[in-house]
Amino acid sequence: MTTNCCWPSIPGIIMNLLLIVLALATFTSAQPAPEDLDPLLKGLAESPLKNGVDLEKRVPLMTDDPTAAPLIDLQVFAPPVVPRNGPSCTVELLKHTFGIGSYNAPAVIPYTPPTDPSCGEVGKWAAVSMNLSVYSIGTQYDRLSAIYLSHTEIWRSSGAEPTKTGTIWNTIKDVTHFTPLFSRPGDLMMDFSNIVASELLLDGVFDVALSATFHAPSKEFPTPETADIIIPLSNGSPDAPNFFSISDDTGAITSITLPPNTSGAYVEVFCSGNSAEEFWYLNTPDEFTSYFPESTGIVGKGPFREVQVLVDDKIAGFVWPYPVIYTGGITPSNWRPLTSYGAYDSPTYWIDITPFIPVLSSPAQNHTITLRVVGQGKSPSFNSNWFVSGSVHVKHGKSATKGTLTKYQVGDLRIQTTGGANSSDGTVWTKVTASRDVLIESELLDEHNQKRLVQFTQKLRYSNDASYANEGWVQVASQITQGTTSALHNGKQVLRDAFEYPISVFSNYSLYTAEFGGYGSAINQTYSRALTPPTGIYKSILSVQHAKGEIGMDNWSGLRHAINGTGSTNQTFAYSNGRGETYFRDIAAKNDGWVHDVVWGSLKNLNPPVPSSQIYGPIGGPGFRRSIAEEGRVG
Ligand SMILES: *[C@@H]1O[C@H](CO)[C@@H](O)[C@H](O)[C@H]1NC(C)=O
Ligand SMILES: *[C@@H]1O[C@H](CO)[C@@H](O)[C@H](O)[C@H]1NC(C)=O
Ligand SMILES: *[C@@H]1O[C@H](CO)[C@@H](O)[C@H](O)[C@H]1NC(C)=O
Ligand SMILES: *[C@@H]1O[C@H](CO)[C@@H](O)[C@H](O)[C@H]1NC(C)=O
Ligand SMILES: *[C@@H]1O[C@H](CO)[C@@H](O)[C@H](O)[C@H]1NC(C)=O
Ligand SMILES: *[C@@H]1O[C@H](CO)[C@@H](O)[C@H](O)[C@H]1NC(C)=O
Ligand SMILES: *[C@@H]1O[C@H](CO)[C@@H](O)[C@H](O)[C@H]1NC(C)=O
Ligand SMILES: *[C@@H]1O[C@H](CO)[C@@H](O)[C@H](O)[C@H]1NC(C)=O
Ligand SMILES: *[C@@H]1O[C@H](CO)[C@@H](O)[C@H](O)[C@H]1NC(C)=O
Repeated sequence: MTTNCCWPSIPGIIMNLLLIVLALATFTSAQPAPEDLDPLLKGLAESPLKNGVDLEKRVPLMTDDPTAAPLIDLQVFAPPVVPRNGPSCTVELLKHTFGIGSYNAPAVIPYTPPTDPSCGEVGKWAAVSMNLSVYSIGTQYDRLSAIYLSHTEIWRSSGAEPTKTGTIWNTIKDVTHFTPLFSRPGDLMMDFSNIVASELLLDGVFDVALSATFHAPSKEFPTPETADIIIPLSNGSPDAPNFFSISDDTGAITSITLPPNTSGAYVEVFCSGNSAEEFWYLNTPDEFTSYFPESTGIVGKGPFREVQVLVDDKIAGFVWPYPVIYTGGITPSNWRPLTSYGAYDSPTYWIDITPFIPVLSSPAQNHTITLRVVGQGKSPSFNSNWFVSGSVHVKHGKSATKGTLTKYQVGDLRIQTTGGANSSDGTVWTKVTASRDVLIESELLDEHNQKRLVQFTQKLRYSNDASYANEGWVQVASQITQGTTSALHNGKQVLRDAFEYPISVFSNYSLYTAEFGGYGSAINQTYSRALTPPTGIYKSILSVQHAKGEIGMDNWSGLRHAINGTGSTNQTFAYSNGRGETYFRDIAAKNDGWVHDVVWGSLKNLNPPVPSSQIYGPIGGPGFRRSIAEEGRVG
C-alpha cells in the first residue's frame, strides 16, 4: 500500500487553476443545527488571543541546526473526556521502529487486559484512551498507519514529513467504545508501512510509542454503555495490514452471523483514498479529461465518492467522507508543523443496521456485510485504490429478536455532471452535484412480542465546482458535503450525525515540470460535525483552517525533491460535548515554525498549547530548505 503521498505529493492532477471562484451551492437542509454550533461560536468569541499574547518571542531552531530541540508537530484534537480524579493506569502497548523492511510488515504483539487494581475491573472502565507518540528525523514522505486490536481497526493515522533536526508528534484518542476488544486477550497490530531508501534520499524512520490509559469508574463517572461484542470487518490477516485495499466496484466482503439475541447493531466505517484516489475530491469527470493534454496528468473518474455499507448485498447506508489531507498533500509546506484536521486521527462514520437484525441473525443462511466504494467512472467507477475496514458493534438483548423490514426507501443517487470549455482562453469548468435520501424502517419483536420500531434515515447533499486553466496546471475546486444521518429506536435517538465539510483548493503547478520549478496552493477547509454515536456521548466540533504555501524543487530527472518552501496554516478549533465540557484552540504555524497557540475551555489542561520555547512569533520559522542533491547520492 502506498500512501501516495508525499513529498512532494501533488494531486494527481495536476491541476489547475482558475481564477473564477465559483459560488458554492447553498443547501437549506441537513447540516449541524444552530444549537450544535452556537456554543462553539460563543466559545471562540472568548479567545484570549485578543487580550494580548506575546508574539515576539523567538528561539533559534534553524532547520539545519543539529543542536535544536525536535520540532513539535501536531493535529489539533479535543482531549478524551476521562475522570479527573480517581484511579487509573497507563500501560505501554508497543514500542517499535518502523524503518527498513516495515512496508506491509506491521508490528504484531499479544495484548492482555490490564490487571493492576488501579486500572479498575476489566471491562468496567469509565474510559479508555490511547496515546500515540512518534519521533522521526530526516527525510520521509507521509505514510499511512493503522492500529488494529483483535483484527479490528481502532485508529487510522498518518505521519509527519519530518525535519532534519527531528520532529515529534503526540495524539490522544478516546477508544472507550472499543471496550469489548480491550476486555479480552488478542493481537495488537500496528501498521506504519515505511520505505527507507538512500537512492530516493528517504532516511526518516518512525519511532513509535503506543500506550493505553484505563480509568476505573466512580459515582460521578460510571461505566458507560458500550457494545457487548465487536465483530471486525477486515481481512483478518495475521501478519499483513488488516484493512481491505479495494480498487473495483465489488467491494470488500465479510461473512457474518449475529447472535440470535442481538438487539442493536451498528457499523463503524474507516475509509481513505490512496494513490490516484488520495485527492479524489479534485479528480476530473471523465467527460472532461480529454480537454487536457495527457502530460498534465489529470486524474479521471470525477470528484464524487460514496462508501456503501451493504447487508446481504442490500444497501444499509452510505458514507460521504470528509477529505483528509495528509502532511505531504497538495503542498507539503502547508502542513508542517500544523497538519490538516484528521491527518493523525481519521474521522469514522456510523451506520445503524439494527433494521436488518432479523435477517442477519438467521442461521438458516450465510450473511455478508460489504464495504463498497463508488465513484463517477465506468467499471470500475473509481481509481486505485481505497483502504476500507470497519466493525459491527453488537448489543445483546434478553431474547431472540424477530421482525420485519417495513419500509425500504433507498433513494437513487441523484447526480448531475455539467461543464464546458471557454474556447477563447482555454479554461475549463465542471460542476457535480449529488443528493440522496434514505429511510429504512423495521418492526422488531422480542420473545414477548413486544414491538420496537427502528428507523434509520439519511439526507445527504454534495456539490463540487472546479475550474482549470493553463491546460489543467492551475485548478480551483470548491466542494461541500453535508448531511444528517439519524437512527431512532422507539422514538429514542440512538445515532445522530449532522455534518458539513466544505473544502476549497487553489493549486498552481504551472512550473511543476520546469528545472528548478515549483508549485503552490491555497486551501480552506472546515470540519463541522455534531455527532451522537451509538455508544458514547454527544460531541460537536467546528474546525476552520486556511493554508497557503509554495515549494521549490531541484533538478533531478524523474523524481524531483523539494529544496525550499514557505507555508502558512491558521486554524480555529471549537469542541463541546454532552457533559458540558469545552475545548477551544486558536493556532497558527508559518514557515516550519509556530506563530501562536492559545488554548481555552474546560478541557484546556488535558491538551495544552505547544510550549512557548517553540513559538517563533509572527514571521514563523526559518522555512523549509535543503541542499541540492547530486543525482543518485544522498545530499
Ligand atoms: C503520551 O506519550 C508520550 C510518549 O511516551 C509522553 O511523552 C506524553 O506525555 C504522553 N501524553 C499523555 C497525555 O499522557
Ligand atoms: C455457509 O458457508 C459455509 C462455508 O462457505 C458452507 O459450508 C455452508 O454450506 C453455508 N451454509 C449455507 C446455509 O449456505
Ligand atoms: C446473548 O447471547 C450470547 C451468545 O450468543 C450470550 O453470551 C449472552 O449472554 C446473551 N445475552 C443475554 C442478555 O441473554
Ligand atoms: C472566456 O474567456 C474570455 C477571455 O479571457 C473572457 O473574457 C470570458 O469572460 C470567458 N467566458 C466565460 C464564460 O468564462
Ligand atoms: C480562503 O478563504 C479566504 C478568506 O475567506 C479567501 O480570501 C480565499 O480566497 C479562500 N481561498 C480559497 C482557495 O477558497
Ligand atoms: C501560476 O504560477 C506561475 C508561475 O509562478 C505564474 O506565472 C502564474 O501567474 C500563476 N498563476 C496563478 C493563477 O496564480
Ligand atoms: C494566517 O493569519 C495571518 C494573520 O492574521 C495572515 O497574515 C495569514 O495570511 C493567514 N494565513 C492564511 C493561510 O490564511
Ligand atoms: C542541478 O543543478 C546543480 C546546481 O546548479 C548542478 O550542479 C547539477 O549538475 C544539476 N544536475 C542536473 C542533473 O542537471
Ligand atoms: C527557492 O529557491 C529558489 C532559488 O534560490 C528561489 O528562486 C525560489 O523563490 C525559492 N522558492 C521558495 C518557495 O522559497
